[in-house]
Amino acid sequence: MKINRNDPCWCGSEKKYKKCHLQFDEKLKELKLAGKKIPTRKMIKNEAQIEGIRKAAAINSGLLDYIEEHIHAGMATEEIDIMAKEYTEKYHATCADYQYMGFPKHICVSINDVVCHGIPSKDIILQEGDIVNVDATTMLDGYYADASRMFMIGNVSPEAKKLVEDTKKALEIGIASIVPYQSCVGDIGKAIETFAKANNYSVVREFCGHGVGLAIHEDPYVFHFEPNERTVTLVPGMVFTIEPMLNLGKRDVFVDADDEWTVYTEDGSLSAQWEHTLLVTEDGVEIISK
Ligand code: MF3
Ligand code: CO
Ligand code: CO
Repeated sequence: MKINRNDPCWCGSEKKYKKCHLQFDEKLKELKLAGKKIPTRKMIKNEAQIEGIRKAAAINSGLLDYIEEHIHAGMATEEIDIMAKEYTEKYHATCADYQYMGFPKHICVSINDVVCHGIPSKDIILQEGDIVNVDATTMLDGYYADASRMFMIGNVSPEAKKLVEDTKKALEIGIASIVPYQSCVGDIGKAIETFAKANNYSVVREFCGHGVGLAIHEDPYVFHFEPNERTVTLVPGMVFTIEPMLNLGKRDVFVDADDEWTVYTEDGSLSAQWEHTLLVTEDGVEIISK
């Protein structure tokens, strides 16, 4: 169906199409003619939505800062869960992980060989030398932001420290690969995989980055390796996460049969992950979850 120049734009901005996404659509049409895969309109956020996601992201980052200040050896991961709930509620937001597909807690805390989706517990105590991923997803007024960081508890081994730092680098390299209207989702994965391989890490394949903003998980999938398929071109208004999981050993993982959430490395090797929520802009990329 054709939109006329003076009709309201399809993005929901309430602006006229000619003053909103008309030029954008013409640019995408050219890209398509040039053989590129184009994102669906659902993948494009308008200004109001981006503003909503920014507000959720500010709380999410504030929570991770708060946890960073308080995390220490001897504390139960349950205490991090309580911090997440209380901090988030203080800002009139909610922890989106809670009851997401039945997830029983408010935040994911994943230690050492736990790759992701670790469930906070009063029986899991942080030890000196642990490397810990804390992954928070905040929802405010219906908008979602998702980010995670690694924390090192006291003195950690040199190889664990290097894994943590290099995994952060992998995320940064993924972000740096983004060129609006040019690079595609698969280029992010390729950049991350190339870096990981060169440094002898494996990349977990079972979990990916994802579109985010109006729900926790939206299209597209953001692979952390070079995919076999054609992937969409990155264009302004797309909001998604990059969240590489790198292992010191093999890439294989398994899910705990009892809790059905906790993901471990098959070989027991250490795993690290960092995650940001990103916005593609006209001339680059904005880290929304900074
Ligand atoms: N924050 C996670 C992500 O990065 C999602 C966790 S889902 C949960 O996609 F249910 F495990 F919390
Ligand atoms: Co995510
Ligand atoms: Co996350």
